[in-house]
Amino acid sequence: MHIDILRGTAVALPQQISDTLAQRITSGLLAPGSRLPSVRTLAASLAVSQMTVSKAYAELEKRGHIVCSQGRGCFVAESAKGQPDGSASWQAGYDDYLPRAQLWRNFDSLKVKYPFHLAAIHHELLPLAEIGRTMSRLVTEQPELMGTYGNFQGDQELREVMRTHLQARGITLPSTELMITSGTQQGIDLVARTFVGPGDTVYMEAPSYTGAIDVFAGRGAEIIPVPTDREGMRLDVLTRLCDRRKPKLIYTIPTFQNPSGVTLSMARRQRLLELARSYGCLIVEDDPFSDLYFRHSPPPPIKSLDRDGHVVYIKSFSKVIAPGCRIACVAGSGDILSRLIAAKSASDLGSPLLTQRAVLPFIARKYDVYAAGLRTALRGRMEQAAQLLKQYAPPGVSWSLPEGGLNLWLKLPPCANIGKLHTLAEAESISFLPGEVCHAGDQESRHIRLCYSQMEEAEMLQGLRRFMELLDSYLRSLQC
Ligand SMILES: Cc1ncc(COP(=O)(O)O)c(C=O)c1O
Repeated sequence: MHIDILRGTAVALPQQISDTLAQRITSGLLAPGSRLPSVRTLAASLAVSQMTVSKAYAELEKRGHIVCSQGRGCFVAESAKGQPDGSASWQAGYDDYLPRAQLWRNFDSLKVKYPFHLAAIHHELLPLAEIGRTMSRLVTEQPELMGTYGNFQGDQELREVMRTHLQARGITLPSTELMITSGTQQGIDLVARTFVGPGDTVYMEAPSYTGAIDVFAGRGAEIIPVPTDREGMRLDVLTRLCDRRKPKLIYTIPTFQNPSGVTLSMARRQRLLELARSYGCLIVEDDPFSDLYFRHSPPPPIKSLDRDGHVVYIKSFSKVIAPGCRIACVAGSGDILSRLIAAKSASDLGSPLLTQRAVLPFIARKYDVYAAGLRTALRGRMEQAAQLLKQYAPPGVSWSLPEGGLNLWLKLPPCANIGKLHTLAEAESISFLPGEVCHAGDQESRHIRLCYSQMEEAEMLQGLRRFMELLDSYLRSLQC
């Protein structure tokens, strides 16, 4: 279990721990009856003394949030959920509906020397100078772009470019069936706000993209994880689950899935669509990585098979071009898309025209050649990283080589405490994404995600080697 500890502040460490846990308990993030880590384990993983954790637990028990018994440990009290917390500051007791989003809120890539946690591409590989030149030209030659609101649905010219772009990837539809959003994140958020409410059932791969889990959890949805294997989401399991609880929506990242890297096979893409048809539900197909393949292009998007509007397809241009421009394209149809456009207008009155027009000429004319070069560069990095792992990863650590995307998904031996490892890595200015945050529940995970493309190559290799050395000495210290 991870808790952000802020050292050197006026709030004492035991109070920081008890306030955070109290908030997770009252919000329901920690379910009644669930067991808290032992004092020793939590102290080790947060790098604080056992006394600090004991004080925090004693305070939680006094407030009625947990029940502790000698020998058995501490458990969340059955009646604690939703109970106002009188003794915490009013802010700590003020309800929010996104408790998950705070689980690991302290990542700051600018402050970390080796930011392996962030799934992004190093800025030197991105076409930023060219997009920047287009943007400055637009600012001087067409300042009126900043003096008006754009179309809620997105700039018509950009949608036309997107139409051609998607057509080359097997998705044929008119530009009226496309919408531009401020990143995929906004697209997911709009779908969730429009179609998902408290108690609705959302199925997704386990593990999955933490940003999507947060959005659906924030809507009060019942998130049901579906296990994956080498061919992606287990459709046999999903079918059984859907028989028990009707899906409102299925969220999937079918290609080079985040975080696991697996790709949904063609046969399963077809079956997933059939399933959505038979249950009359939506599939949200999140596609940030399909252009980033190493050897063979992946199967076509599920949307390319969709004849009756069951798929809302979201293609991000963040990873490949410029995350700062916040451009994604949503493909939907009929009433579903109209309602999403209305939600977009309620959310921000349309994405900025300036960034839409700044990426337009690049996507229209240079994207394909550029993406081919980017793939070669990324494949080179991934192979170097894999070579280094082969040489330096300690025994008991396993991974499989991704066929595309930006991440390596490592499995650690059962004895490793990932919270503790995170603290140790942080002290060396190394960050990684703990697998725990990629699960909707408070599930333990033995995985960590490392992004190999966010740093300059030599820096990444140096950081990875340091991290493997640190992991090795940590595992040796456990003698496991
Ligand atoms: C699977 C997935 N979906 C969506 C996003 C967010 O992308 P965007 O920058 O387009 O909002 C990310 C970012 O890491 C991601 O990994």
